[in-house]
Amino acid sequence: MPLTFELPDAKATRAFGQRLAGLLEPGLVVHLSGPLGAGKTSLCSAIIGALGHPGPVKSPTYTLVETYLLNLGNVYHFDLYRLADPEELEWIGGRDYFDGSSLCLIEWPEHGTGALPRPDLALELSVADGGRRLRAAAASTRGRALLEQLSEAG
Ligand SMILES: Nc1ncnc2c1ncn2[C@@H]1O[C@H](COP(=O)(O)OP(=O)(O)OP(=O)(O)O)[C@@H](O)[C@H]1O
Ligand SMILES: [Mg+2]
Repeated sequence: MPLTFELPDAKATRAFGQRLAGLLEPGLVVHLSGPLGAGKTSLCSAIIGALGHPGPVKSPTYTLVETYLLNLGNVYHFDLYRLADPEELEWIGGRDYFDGSSLCLIEWPEHGTGALPRPDLALELSVADGGRRLRAAAASTRGRALLEQLSEAG
């Protein structure tokens, strides 16, 4: 069963990212969907910060992917908005990123359909009453376990 979270302001997005970060593990694939400005990068930024990255988190809009080496291991933050064709992922070495042992946060996964691993967790953000609504769905056993913890922890 998907879970829904209300995030009334940017601070709530940050807090949710911090809570989620505490449950993430190496090798998990998290998809973040939603329209322009829905808060996908804000959420990733909160996660990456909470996982120990001290500086600002750059949006990988032009680079497609930013790499972080954190306590958890490699964390890859993708923004596939500018990907014209899922095959382009091959050119940036897509396969090397999806090695099953790195945490992958993927914004705009719709642009990489067919070239991405299945998500463990699919997060969908939408604008709601000035704030944001987040729908979280699990698509694997690990994802379901995480969602269960998420529903308990908060
Ligand atoms: N819960 C929230 N309520 C209101 N504003 C929010 C919330 N979460 C984030 N924001 C704000 O939304 C704006 C857009 O956020 P962000 O850049 O993270 O969106 P995005 O989904 O990554 O967009 P894009 O697809 O264009 O990269 C930011 O100014 C951010 O502070
Ligand atoms: Mg973004």
